[in-house]
Amino acid sequence: MAVERTLAILKPDCVKKNLIGKVTAQIQEAGFKVVAMRMTRLTKETAGGFYEVHKERPFFGELVEFMSSGPCVPIVLEKENAVADFRKLIGATNPANADAGTVRKLYADSVGENIVHGSDSVENAKIEINYHFASSDLVANYGF
Ligand code: CMP
Repeated sequence: MAVERTLAILKPDCVKKNLIGKVTAQIQEAGFKVVAMRMTRLTKETAGGFYEVHKERPFFGELVEFMSSGPCVPIVLEKENAVADFRKLIGATNPANADAGTVRKLYADSVGENIVHGSDSVENAKIEINYHFASSDLVANYGF
């Protein structure tokens, strides 16, 4: 299987609930390597730009409000089959439908406030990583 990168965002509810450490530990214990990580606060403009693909959806305004409501933590992760494996680790978008033990089942309150984002394809992962990080931020080279 190919080594891939994916973009995770620990959302404002994750930060507010003081779960950065627990969720990051679960991600690392599942074999993901952290390539880049930072805390930031999205503006309405940057949150809207990131979720541009959803701009016609009825929940877009709510999503932008929530994602700009407090700090979040974008993380670039690397692993074989990272995109699909990460989505499996975090569980279904709506925590009510997420499998037991997944990040969203464990910690999320609702489909809107669902703790963590994960890219849905290798192609989108590249776009999303470039949205949140400069190539000079991607310095990790584990080499083992
Ligand atoms: P995420 O994986 O970050 O990608 C798009 C986000 O839109 C999704 O997680 C949800 O948090 C949010 N979303 C999807 N459906 C709804 C909905 N029905 N109501 C509110 N937010 C939603």
